[in-house]
Amino acid sequence: MKKAIILSLSLLLFFGCKTNTKQFNKSPETAEKGKQLFTNLGCIACHSITGEKLYGPSLNNILNKKVEVVRNGELLLITVDKEYLTKSIQDPEYEKVSSLKSHKMPKPEISAEDINYLVEYIISVNSTRN
Ligand code: HEC
Repeated sequence: MKKAIILSLSLLLFFGCKTNTKQFNKSPETAEKGKQLFTNLGCIACHSITGEKLYGPSLNNILNKKVEVVRNGELLLITVDKEYLTKSIQDPEYEKVSSLKSHKMPKPEISAEDINYLVEYIISVNSTRN
Protein backbone atom coordinates (compact mmCIF):
# COMPACT_ATOMS: atom_id res chain seq x y z
CA MET A 1 0.00 0.00 0.00
CA LYS A 2 2.72 2.42 1.07
CA LYS A 3 4.70 1.50 -2.03
CA ALA A 4 1.73 2.32 -4.24
CA ILE A 5 1.41 5.76 -2.67
CA ILE A 6 5.10 6.48 -3.10
CA LEU A 7 4.92 5.29 -6.68
CA SER A 8 1.97 7.47 -7.57
CA LEU A 9 3.53 10.46 -5.81
CA SER A 10 6.75 10.09 -7.77
CA LEU A 11 4.85 9.66 -11.01
CA LEU A 12 2.91 12.81 -10.24
CA LEU A 13 6.10 14.68 -9.49
CA PHE A 14 7.79 13.38 -12.62
CA PHE A 15 4.99 14.25 -15.01
CA GLY A 16 4.19 17.45 -13.14
CA CYS A 17 7.75 18.72 -13.64
CA LYS A 18 7.77 17.56 -17.21
CA THR A 19 4.80 19.69 -18.17
CA ASN A 20 6.28 22.70 -16.39
CA THR A 21 9.55 22.64 -18.26
CA LYS A 22 8.07 21.55 -21.59
CA GLN A 23 7.84 24.96 -23.20
CA PHE A 24 11.41 26.10 -23.02
CA ASN A 25 13.57 23.02 -22.85
CA LYS A 26 16.19 22.54 -25.52
CA SER A 27 15.16 19.11 -26.65
CA PRO A 28 15.27 17.99 -30.28
CA GLU A 29 11.48 18.45 -30.22
CA THR A 30 11.96 22.17 -29.61
CA ALA A 31 14.11 22.46 -32.72
CA GLU A 32 11.65 20.27 -34.61
CA LYS A 33 8.81 22.63 -33.66
CA GLY A 34 10.97 25.53 -34.86
CA LYS A 35 11.63 23.76 -38.13
CA GLN A 36 7.90 23.41 -38.75
CA LEU A 37 7.35 27.10 -37.99
CA PHE A 38 10.25 28.00 -40.27
CA THR A 39 8.48 26.26 -43.13
CA ASN A 40 4.91 27.25 -42.24
CA LEU A 41 5.70 30.93 -41.70
CA GLY A 42 7.55 31.14 -45.00
CA CYS A 43 11.01 31.96 -43.54
CA ILE A 44 12.25 29.26 -45.87
CA ALA A 45 11.35 31.35 -48.93
CA CYS A 46 14.05 33.89 -48.05
CA HIS A 47 16.51 31.88 -45.93
CA SER A 48 18.32 28.68 -46.76
CA ILE A 49 20.06 26.59 -44.13
CA THR A 50 22.60 25.23 -46.60
CA GLY A 51 24.78 28.28 -47.22
CA GLU A 52 22.91 29.19 -50.37
CA LYS A 53 22.06 32.89 -50.59
CA LEU A 54 18.43 33.57 -51.33
CA TYR A 55 16.76 36.97 -50.83
CA GLY A 56 17.96 36.85 -47.21
CA PRO A 57 21.17 35.41 -45.69
CA SER A 58 21.63 31.68 -45.16
CA LEU A 59 21.10 30.92 -41.48
CA ASN A 60 23.52 28.08 -40.92
CA ASN A 61 27.10 28.95 -40.13
CA ILE A 62 26.26 32.32 -38.56
CA LEU A 63 26.28 31.52 -34.83
CA ASN A 64 29.25 33.10 -33.01
CA LYS A 65 30.35 34.75 -36.25
CA LYS A 66 30.78 38.47 -36.69
CA VAL A 67 28.25 40.28 -38.81
CA GLU A 68 28.19 43.90 -39.89
CA VAL A 69 24.84 45.48 -39.14
CA VAL A 70 23.27 48.89 -39.45
CA ARG A 71 21.49 50.14 -36.34
CA ASN A 72 19.99 53.62 -36.45
CA GLY A 73 22.09 54.45 -39.47
CA GLU A 74 25.29 53.39 -37.70
CA LEU A 75 27.56 50.53 -38.85
CA LEU A 76 28.39 48.05 -36.08
CA LEU A 77 30.25 44.75 -35.97
CA ILE A 78 28.36 42.37 -33.72
CA THR A 79 28.68 38.69 -32.79
CA VAL A 80 25.69 36.51 -33.63
CA ASP A 81 24.28 35.00 -30.44
CA LYS A 82 20.92 33.89 -29.15
CA GLU A 83 19.93 37.42 -28.21
CA TYR A 84 20.78 38.80 -31.65
CA LEU A 85 18.85 35.99 -33.38
CA THR A 86 15.83 36.63 -31.17
CA LYS A 87 15.92 40.36 -31.84
CA SER A 88 16.37 39.81 -35.60
CA ILE A 89 13.12 37.87 -35.71
CA GLN A 90 11.26 40.02 -33.20
CA ASP A 91 12.14 43.31 -34.84
CA PRO A 92 13.80 42.86 -38.25
CA GLU A 93 14.26 46.61 -38.73
CA TYR A 94 16.25 47.11 -35.52
CA GLU A 95 19.58 45.83 -36.84
CA LYS A 96 19.89 45.14 -40.55
CA VAL A 97 22.62 43.00 -42.08
CA SER A 98 24.55 45.79 -43.82
CA SER A 99 25.18 43.92 -47.08
CA LEU A 100 21.42 43.38 -47.36
CA LYS A 101 20.17 46.59 -45.88
CA SER A 102 18.02 47.40 -48.92
CA HIS A 103 16.30 44.01 -48.61
CA LYS A 104 13.27 43.93 -46.40
CA MET A 105 12.29 41.21 -43.95
CA PRO A 106 8.61 41.31 -42.95
CA LYS A 107 8.02 41.42 -39.20
CA PRO A 108 6.38 38.11 -38.21
CA GLU A 109 3.34 38.49 -35.94
CA ILE A 110 4.13 35.55 -33.67
CA SER A 111 4.40 34.85 -29.94
CA ALA A 112 7.63 35.03 -27.94
CA GLU A 113 7.32 31.27 -27.52
CA ASP A 114 7.29 30.70 -31.28
CA ILE A 115 10.26 33.05 -31.69
CA ASN A 116 12.07 30.92 -29.14
CA TYR A 117 11.32 27.76 -31.13
CA LEU A 118 12.67 29.40 -34.29
CA VAL A 119 15.83 30.54 -32.51
CA GLU A 120 16.41 27.02 -31.12
CA TYR A 121 15.97 25.65 -34.63
CA ILE A 122 18.50 28.11 -36.09
CA ILE A 123 20.96 27.27 -33.29
CA SER A 124 20.48 23.56 -34.00
CA VAL A 125 21.28 23.90 -37.71
CA ASN A 126 24.38 25.88 -36.77
CA SER A 127 25.68 23.26 -34.37
CA THR A 128 25.14 20.26 -36.62
CA ARG A 129 26.64 21.73 -39.77
CA ASN A 130 29.67 23.57 -38.42
C1 HEC B 1 10.79 38.36 -47.62
C2 HEC B 1 11.98 37.62 -47.21
C3 HEC B 1 12.17 37.23 -45.76
C4 HEC B 1 11.33 36.47 -44.99
C5 HEC B 1 9.99 35.86 -45.33
C6 HEC B 1 12.03 36.28 -43.72
N1 HEC B 1 13.25 36.93 -43.73
FE1 HEC B 1 14.66 36.89 -42.27
N2 HEC B 1 15.79 38.23 -43.30
C7 HEC B 1 15.52 38.66 -44.60
C8 HEC B 1 16.55 39.60 -45.02
C9 HEC B 1 16.61 40.31 -46.38
C10 HEC B 1 17.47 39.70 -43.95
C11 HEC B 1 18.75 40.55 -43.91
C12 HEC B 1 18.41 42.02 -43.78
C13 HEC B 1 17.97 42.34 -42.40
O1 HEC B 1 18.77 42.16 -41.47
O2 HEC B 1 16.82 42.77 -42.26
C14 HEC B 1 16.97 38.81 -42.89
C15 HEC B 1 17.60 38.57 -41.67
C16 HEC B 1 17.28 37.57 -40.80
C17 HEC B 1 18.07 37.15 -39.67
C18 HEC B 1 19.44 37.69 -39.28
C19 HEC B 1 20.47 36.89 -40.08
C20 HEC B 1 21.91 37.34 -40.01
O3 HEC B 1 22.74 36.73 -40.74
O4 HEC B 1 22.26 38.25 -39.27
C21 HEC B 1 17.39 36.12 -39.06
C22 HEC B 1 17.82 35.33 -37.83
C23 HEC B 1 16.16 35.92 -39.80
N3 HEC B 1 16.11 36.80 -40.85
C24 HEC B 1 15.21 34.96 -39.49
C25 HEC B 1 13.98 34.85 -40.14
C26 HEC B 1 12.89 33.99 -39.69
C27 HEC B 1 12.94 33.05 -38.51
C28 HEC B 1 11.85 34.18 -40.57
C29 HEC B 1 10.47 33.57 -40.53
C30 HEC B 1 9.65 33.93 -39.38
C31 HEC B 1 12.30 35.13 -41.57
N4 HEC B 1 13.58 35.53 -41.27
C32 HEC B 1 11.53 35.54 -42.66
C33 HEC B 1 14.43 38.30 -45.38
C34 HEC B 1 13.36 37.54 -44.96
